[in-house]
Amino acid sequence: MVNFPLSEVYLESVDSTNSYLKRIIKEQEPPKGLSVMAKCQTSGRGRLGRSWLSAEGETLCMSICVKNKYCEGFTLLVALAVYDAIKLFCKGKELKIKWPNDIIAENKKLCGILCERVNEYTVIGIGINVNDKSFAEEIENKATSLYLLNGEKLDVKAVFKAVNNAVENILVKYDFTFTENARNVYQKLCVNIGKDVATEKHSGKAVSVGSDGSLILSCNGETVSVTSGEVAVHNIY
Ligand code: BTN
Repeated sequence: MVNFPLSEVYLESVDSTNSYLKRIIKEQEPPKGLSVMAKCQTSGRGRLGRSWLSAEGETLCMSICVKNKYCEGFTLLVALAVYDAIKLFCKGKELKIKWPNDIIAENKKLCGILCERVNEYTVIGIGINVNDKSFAEEIENKATSLYLLNGEKLDVKAVFKAVNNAVENILVKYDFTFTENARNVYQKLCVNIGKDVATEKHSGKAVSVGSDGSLILSCNGETVSVTSGEVAVHNIY
């Protein structure tokens, strides 16, 4: 399957870059390896059916379409790529990954990822707070941006290109698979590990990440594998 190099597309305005690529996949055979960014997204979507808010021209809203076999833990692999890309722009500030795929800095969310499977394609949606100066009330205590971290504005298109490169590098390096090596790298960056966490049903200590990308908790001596949903980390969000 030839996905790379990615063809890059720029849109002024769209409902959601993920929805845009999903429509292309359903209506026509997309060119393999397509990456689209939009200056303005009017109905951005997040994980767990939430909406994703973005500021026109300030938040990077992008989606990448790749043709690949379904792979458990794929979204964690994407988080490794986006981590590598953002690292280039954060002047040595510490970044972490909050399971499954939020990139965080100073305990606040910098980036969210929404992977959606359509036929034999994966749409990788990535939202990065690049030049955002403030956030809506409901997320202002949870979100940060590269601007707020660095005190300097960045070229959003340069971040887009860096993400495309990093996604290509990681997916090629690990052959689109959440391998044992990828899992080891992920675990070192995962902020949940060793912390007290809570899901809707369980609370306990996060001890590791499974080969399927699940978060493994120890709850009063019982091992629980969390495969989806929200995991709150004590003192983070
Ligand atoms: C999350 O943290 O809940 C995931 C957020 C993903 C947002 C991005 S922005 C670009 C792409 N288009 C969407 O509608 N969502 C993703």
